[in-house]
Amino acid sequence: MNRTLRFQIFRHHPLDPQSQPRLETYRLEESPGMTLFIALNLIRAEQAPDLNFDFVCRAGVCGSCAMLINGRPGLACRTLTASLPETITLLPLPNFELIADLSVNTGKWMRALSERLETWVHLNEEPDIDRLEAPMDADLAEQIYELDRCIECGCCLAACGTAQMRKDFVGAVGIHKIARFRADPRDCRDDAAYYEVIGDEDGVFGCMSLLGCQDFCPKNLSLQTQIAFIRRKLARQGWKKT
Ligand code: SF4
Ligand code: SF4
Ligand code: FES
Repeated sequence: MNRTLRFQIFRHHPLDPQSQPRLETYRLEESPGMTLFIALNLIRAEQAPDLNFDFVCRAGVCGSCAMLINGRPGLACRTLTASLPETITLLPLPNFELIADLSVNTGKWMRALSERLETWVHLNEEPDIDRLEAPMDADLAEQIYELDRCIECGCCLAACGTAQMRKDFVGAVGIHKIARFRADPRDCRDDAAYYEVIGDEDGVFGCMSLLGCQDFCPKNLSLQTQIAFIRRKLARQGWKKT
């Protein structure tokens, strides 16, 4: 028999002076294969036309639907209601600017991170536009591809104790991005340059290694391995400076 799900959903419009943060309750008949994406769209269509939430791809690719699902960060489009109890509490991700209800501005945060860490390949020579392609060793290309799978959903930040305490902490997402560019032989930056960017407590030395990020990364990235690797490499830079 289908369950009747009870949704408790955070509602608040920060730009509306009349709005108060609150949880509102909605009830919905569960159907086979129902995801939170389907449920939220039904709630918006039938009960709460002004409910805000973000979705683009519905396939775990764009990263825009991350939220706290019964207290745990996750992608709403990849979460089956069948995996949850009858009462489902949905909150916006912490750490990011609230737009309204379940919608947060991860894009603004990720853009600032990108500018801060300069997450683009730094070439030491002008690119030769007449050359069709620069061949790369297949294994290395595979390694960089694996490091490039982050969808910038923000789940690792939401699961991170350090990020709750340090508003400028780059998080696993930031450290992982450094690992991606460090692995790229086209990038001419060295460890001294990376140390200048994340060699402090808002960077790789602020991480407490409690694994929250890795536990909740929906792309199963090896965040801990990369954090440990980058920390070891940059610790050497710190010793050189002292
Ligand atoms: S291991 Fe580090 S980056 Fe990951 S959640 Fe813990 S403190 Fe945050
Ligand atoms: S590292 Fe994982 S959890 Fe963090 S933003 Fe990227 S995909 Fe999301
Ligand atoms: S809608 Fe794109 S990841 Fe969920």
